[in-house]
Amino acid sequence: MEYFRVEGGRPLEGTVRVQGAKNSALPLLAATLLARGETVLRNCPELTDVAAALDILACLGCRAGREGDTVRVDTSTLSGCVIPDGLMGRMRASVLFLGALLARIGEAHTGWPGGCALGARPIDLHLGAFRTLGALVLDRGSLLSCESAGLRGRMLCLPFPSVGATENAMLCACGARGVTVIRNAAREPEIVDLQNFLRSMGAEVHGAGSGRILIRGGKPLHPTDYTVMPDRIAAATFLCAVASAGGEGELTGVCSRDLIPVLASLETAGCAISKEADRLVIRVKRPLRGIGRLTTGPWPAFPTDAQPLLAAALAGGEGTTEIVETVFERRFRYAGGLRAMGADLRVAGDTAYLSGRPLRGAEVKAADLRGGAALTIAALGAEGESRIGGLDHIDRGYRGLEKDLSALGASIRRIRSTSGTKSSDT
Ligand code: EPU
Repeated sequence: MEYFRVEGGRPLEGTVRVQGAKNSALPLLAATLLARGETVLRNCPELTDVAAALDILACLGCRAGREGDTVRVDTSTLSGCVIPDGLMGRMRASVLFLGALLARIGEAHTGWPGGCALGARPIDLHLGAFRTLGALVLDRGSLLSCESAGLRGRMLCLPFPSVGATENAMLCACGARGVTVIRNAAREPEIVDLQNFLRSMGAEVHGAGSGRILIRGGKPLHPTDYTVMPDRIAAATFLCAVASAGGEGELTGVCSRDLIPVLASLETAGCAISKEADRLVIRVKRPLRGIGRLTTGPWPAFPTDAQPLLAAALAGGEGTTEIVETVFERRFRYAGGLRAMGADLRVAGDTAYLSGRPLRGAEVKAADLRGGAALTIAALGAEGESRIGGLDHIDRGYRGLEKDLSALGASIRRIRSTSGTKSSDT
């Protein structure tokens, strides 16, 4: 059992280099399957979700290994098309391997993907895209089979701009002869990164970042050497940590443009932020102000992944904020933990009503990845000691959150309790 021990209520001061983006690295790892040979991915963060993607590649017969932040995937030994349930269930993004396998070898068999319990999280839009491109998709309860004797480019219209379904459609369309047009595509920065990666493999893809993406598929692709984009949600985590505790923090290796909605909200709350293209400095004099109303949504709206992070910072401030969550059904699972720290937070349906007031340390447990990061952020602003459990959730998306927060000047340690009473720092 591991937990974070946080001594809160002290302003931060420090510099952190932001990791590569989890939500880009995962689709790019699936996309390595599209070409035969060795692809190199740089700035690929060491996370348990990335380890799960490498395990899937290894299980399919590929050689996948890591040296520091550089991952090499050799797909020339690809020999399988079955992803066992146990591997598939380790994360949500495992579903992206289906689109890539269909494109490369026309076949994929597996169970259902896992991931954070944020609501129902169906994959109907992914499977619908495969079917439109000519795949036969059989859903036998816990077993999914996708097969195709020849994918064909088509017009695809997504009823909702799902990030994962857009990525899967792009991957699958690379193996479909002719032109595929994805309408109402997701416009998140990670979609643009996937387009750039596919282009570096020789694919013809246009329009990512807009709602209409065009892919001319069926061409042989080649391996590539590519650097994963910076993680905008990890960056938002560090900004909100400084916002919560007060002080000054410098973030390097960021893409400031990808953080525009988050920066705007932090500025409304009273944070001063100096911006350069790849560097941010945030200065915060507490208390933060409430920001009125915040509504999450697909890009360019406020990102759902950053919603718990900002709520945690605002909980210890002053004034009121109403947060409307429009993307996931169960994204307020951190609310109980914040209340244990003394937060005045009420959730009704898709809306959380927050009234800022000073927080105090408490013993809490992460229920999901961003919720766990949010509780850590709140603990940094709360007077006294907090203990945050459920680190397996947090480790899915952060390469040692405690190390990066320590670099920012936080008093945080990972403790491994060896028995009911003994514990040791790790
Ligand atoms: N949806 C469907 N059917 C589908 C696909 C999605 O109904 O076939 C619904 C979902 O249930 C949800 C909404 O559409 O209500 C949005 O889901 P989307 O497909 O856009 O999200 P995702 O691809 O499952 C990615 C990130 C999430 C991030 C969302 C939204 C990865 C691996 N995950 O998930 O990241 O919250 O986009 O931006 O890229 C995280 O990093 O903590 C995380 C949850």
